[in-house]
Amino acid sequence: MSSHLLSVDSLSRDDVDHLIRVAARMEPIAQRRKVTRVLEGAVLGNLFFEASTRTRVSFHAAFCRLGGSVCDTTGFTFSSMAKGESLYDTSRVMSGYCDAIVMRHPEQGSVAEFAQATNVPVINGGDGPGEHPSQALLDIYTIDKEFARRGKQLAGAHILLTGDLKFGRTVHSLIKLLSLYAPMRITLVSPPGLEMPQHLVELVASRGHRVETREHLAADFSDVDVVYTTRIQKERFTAEMSEGFSLSRDYTVDKAFMDQRVNDHAIVMHPLPRDSRPDANDLDVDLNGDPRLAIFRQTDNGIPMRMAICATPLQV
Ligand code: NCD
Repeated sequence: MSSHLLSVDSLSRDDVDHLIRVAARMEPIAQRRKVTRVLEGAVLGNLFFEASTRTRVSFHAAFCRLGGSVCDTTGFTFSSMAKGESLYDTSRVMSGYCDAIVMRHPEQGSVAEFAQATNVPVINGGDGPGEHPSQALLDIYTIDKEFARRGKQLAGAHILLTGDLKFGRTVHSLIKLLSLYAPMRITLVSPPGLEMPQHLVELVASRGHRVETREHLAADFSDVDVVYTTRIQKERFTAEMSEGFSLSRDYTVDKAFMDQRVNDHAIVMHPLPRDSRPDANDLDVDLNGDPRLAIFRQTDNGIPMRMAICATPLQV
């Protein structure tokens, strides 16, 4: 495993399984039932040039739980990039201040460019519509835990990925991680124009998985094990795409969909945030309190998994 985590491409199945095992061992520390100072003296640089709540705060909390401390900068306005500083210079400077860096940036490939200029481990916290490897790792950790509780296996599972599969970086990383496991069935449902990039569909199919596409959610999904839904990434739309775009209820995951089209043992996941504004038709709040809704167990899992991600390259 390389010391940077820029894309899930650098992870083997063994690496993922190792991180899952380390995350499980981190759980009591994440919940403060145990204390460690294993990263005492280490400093994490949190550089977020795009909106974030979960990723930024959970990396911060994870690093503090390990005994380290965090310095950060949020938004272009409050960093020297507003004065024209390059990624290269920012990277060289930050490397002198920090032992590891998490970076989020609106341009695909920018975090990899940043990582080239530094010798400290860099974690991609989301590069535009590119990838979001730590989210995919906490997602697979969540699936593993939820399946273990239900006596299910990932091999042969049926996973439904829905929403904005074109710009949703979490599903780009997740589908590649899933493809490292024994063959499963993956169904893709997205509004027209927001389909999963073809190269990812081909990659996953070439690894022996059955990948199918459905036009909308008004179909039979009664053997689905995981419904993974995502927000429409309107901020990444071109002006042409934005014009007149509205998402119909045909793509909404709600209680009626889960009761009528799915089953009572599937789980519902979402990387969050969900768009709760009227007409957004994102994951419905009527599933709040439904045991199938795993979204807040998923966010909780972000801490132990991000502890595992930070601890591993720093030689814990
Ligand atoms: C996602 C992201 O930023 O890619 N959020 C997250 O990190 N959990 C999903 C999104 O913005 O829709």
